[in-house]
Amino acid sequence: MPNVVVVGAQWGDEGKGKVVDLLTEHAQVVVRYHGGNNAGHTLVVGGQKTVLHLIPSGILHAGKTCVIASGVVIDPSVLVGELDSLKARGFLKDDGQLVISAGAHVIFPWHKWIDELGEKARGGSKLGTTGRGIGPAYEDKVARRGIRVRDLLDADRLARRVKERLPSALEELRRLATAAETPVPTLEPEPLIAEFAALGQRLRPHVADASLLLAGKISKGARILFEGAQGTLLDVDHGTYPFVTSSNCVAANAAVGAGLGPTAIDKVMGISKAYTTRVGSGPFPTELTDEVGERLRAKGAEFGATTGRPRRCGWLDAVILRYAARVNGLWGIALTKLDVLSGLKSINLCTAYELDGQRVSELPGDVEDLGRVRPVYESLPGWDGDLTLVRTFDELPETARRYVRRVEETCGVRVVCVSVGADRGETILLENPFRT
Ligand code: GDP
Ligand code: IMO
Ligand code: MG
Repeated sequence: MPNVVVVGAQWGDEGKGKVVDLLTEHAQVVVRYHGGNNAGHTLVVGGQKTVLHLIPSGILHAGKTCVIASGVVIDPSVLVGELDSLKARGFLKDDGQLVISAGAHVIFPWHKWIDELGEKARGGSKLGTTGRGIGPAYEDKVARRGIRVRDLLDADRLARRVKERLPSALEELRRLATAAETPVPTLEPEPLIAEFAALGQRLRPHVADASLLLAGKISKGARILFEGAQGTLLDVDHGTYPFVTSSNCVAANAAVGAGLGPTAIDKVMGISKAYTTRVGSGPFPTELTDEVGERLRAKGAEFGATTGRPRRCGWLDAVILRYAARVNGLWGIALTKLDVLSGLKSINLCTAYELDGQRVSELPGDVEDLGRVRPVYESLPGWDGDLTLVRTFDELPETARRYVRRVEETCGVRVVCVSVGADRGETILLENPFRT
């Protein structure tokens, strides 16, 4: 029974949510294993749009188990809000459909403040975070002073843990607020403890030992779909550091975050747009600041699903895809938003870089070098027409097929899925990863 990881092959927002929703039909369990509500995963089914930040993208399918595993950092009020809005729409009828790991770390208001004020204090060299407290929550986890979901369920323990952590958090806030020349936020322990204890009670019916539950499901033959957040180049170890998020986004972290051995992973599917986007700061070799970039942003509705920020847009970068193939062990690629490229006379595909007069075919490890490279492009003929009604590969215009084939050749991985629209149905699944 294959277990499949869906991972972003670029800088996030590749369409992971759509692909996970599509593949859930073939799995029994869907697992979010890292990140938090910095993610915004969009699903469109029958024209109805759902944006999920924490709940796995399998949740629209009744009868499937969705797990938020230990590697995720959870803002409990965002999670409760997401639960309530799904329930109000008639989803999540059975509490057992959503499992939350007792070991997942919790985002507190001081994390959000530290994130926001830290960015302000950085001034012109800000990272462009989502401001959701993700980095500071992971900092607390690694510094071994984090507070976890299990702590929310015991009011006394929660009070103790908050009172231990709050003074140093307030000290840091004071320092950052002074550097950012903004008023110091106030946080009173008692109302905070009461609020988070109440949120813990709301989440209680879902809390379990996620690792144990997953191992039990696997032993009974269930197929697991692991849902990555962010993307390969935002990985804290393997991305464009320091312009990254604070967790490991690569596929291998699915095992760590879920509490399973690496042998639980059979296949890795990388998701890539047919072009490239990025939100936040940092180098982006194929970025287009001209009218073509503007056109991609408008036609592709490239505005962040979490923060609403306009996404930076550019041509597809095969150097990045080759890198993503290597560090994730990609089995196949889902190429999304091919429809957005329709109407362009020609399309550029970056196949290598030029760095200080030398041609390089691998991603430079140094982010400053990446900021200096010049993309080497291959120009391919474009196509016209609306692709959103196309359901088979052979129906695609000849030049669109040629583009897809060239992407495969330049990145060395097969394109196993082509997405031609935001809706679940607007997809050409060439190879089902769950089929052995
Ligand atoms: P994720 O974070 O990787 O799940 O991606 P997001 O949901 O943040 O961003 C992808 C956006 O593209 C969403 O608005 C999707 O509805 C949309 N989308 C996904 N696939 C396609 C596609 O093939 N064509 C078009 N036009 N939109 C798509
Ligand atoms: P999904 O799962 C795109 C980016 C932020 C910023 C950097 C650090 O929807 O693909 P953080 O708040 O994580 O500390 O911000 O990472 N970022 C994302 N960009 N998609 C995401 O998630 C992202 N999550 C974080 O813009 O550059
Ligand atoms: Mg997104």
